Amino acid sequence: MATLEVSDTLPHLEEISAAQYFDAHSPPPHLAEHSAAAESFIKHHVNLSRRVVLISSGGTTVPLENQTVRFIDNFSAGTRGATSAEYFLDKGYAVIFLHRQFSLLPYSRHYSHNVNCFLDFMVEEEKTGKVKIEDQYQREMRDVLRKYRYAKDKKLLLLLPFTTVTSYLFMLREIAIKMQPLGSAGLFYLAAAVSDFFVPPSRMVEHKIQSGDLPGPSHGEAERLVKGGVGGKKLVIDLDPVPKFLKKLVEQWAPDSMIVSFKHPESQLETDPSLLLAKARQALDRYCHHLVIGNLLTTRKHEVVFVSKQDDTWIRTNTDDTEIESLIVPEVIERHGAMIAKTVERLRGN
Ligand code: PMT
Repeated sequence: MATLEVSDTLPHLEEISAAQYFDAHSPPPHLAEHSAAAESFIKHHVNLSRRVVLISSGGTTVPLENQTVRFIDNFSAGTRGATSAEYFLDKGYAVIFLHRQFSLLPYSRHYSHNVNCFLDFMVEEEKTGKVKIEDQYQREMRDVLRKYRYAKDKKLLLLLPFTTVTSYLFMLREIAIKMQPLGSAGLFYLAAAVSDFFVPPSRMVEHKIQSGDLPGPSHGEAERLVKGGVGGKKLVIDLDPVPKFLKKLVEQWAPDSMIVSFKHPESQLETDPSLLLAKARQALDRYCHHLVIGNLLTTRKHEVVFVSKQDDTWIRTNTDDTEIESLIVPEVIERHGAMIAKTVERLRGN
């Protein structure tokens, strides 16, 4: 079984700044195209005085090779983000859905992946050979289809994919800056699971790490990335900390928007609710944004805690029939509304 250790016996290296991180990496190939799409989407909704939420969803990856065969992944199916997006759209928000490629998407999530494969909802008519939706699913599927079509026709949903932590961060910065004209009508709802560690480009090997290169007296290219263990078959990966970008977002990229982050504690052993609360509060104190929603991977579908400067509020659902996002999103929207009202009041006062 693989284990992950965070070593503090190694000499403590200075964490690089966000600016240094961007300088050290090339932007993702589709950045300009995605940026243009985001800009025109935002302009359209600014003109309509509509609120816009950027939802980040799914896990970011950390490649181990330039020509990537292997990578480290952060767990997230995209359920939180995709489900929340639907409730935001229901409430009239326009949604920029910054998601991990091939993770769950709003609306199609009901009929995708292996639990809800769309083929299981279909039958072939005996006489005609035509394929149709089974009678028992007609109503539910029609409702989902109508909402999906509405969001598409009204240009309310923009889907932008990422894979690596670097592409995620470039896109987040780019879109945040484009969202500035929205002022307080912009909302960030950061549900993506973002990598905390990465392999710096200076230590990244070009091609697939060969097991034959481990560790061996023949010091191949892989040696810069890995250190050999006993018996020569141990791959030790040396990762640097990714700078915390939330601080940049709050202070520079989106100073007027409401920023909501999700927090799950590092260890799943931390099941104590008071510890979850403490970790969420620590994140709020560190980044000074508006709201942290604490959750644990094991109970995230039934329980979350809202931590803000003002209070802590637990939200729970006891049944599997109620999606917890149907309770989370209205609560976030109410707080967003209060923040907008405060901004308007402040501007009137000036
Ligand atoms: O999609 P699901 O399967 O439903 O799972 C949803 C979820 C459990 C992944 C989601 O609800 C959740 O908790 N997402 C946040 C996961 C995460 O990155 O937590 P964290 O404790 O590592 O980071 C906290 C915050 O710091 C995040 O908002 C992140 O944007 C930010 N961060 C993280 C790393 C980094 N280098 N810079 C950051 O700013």
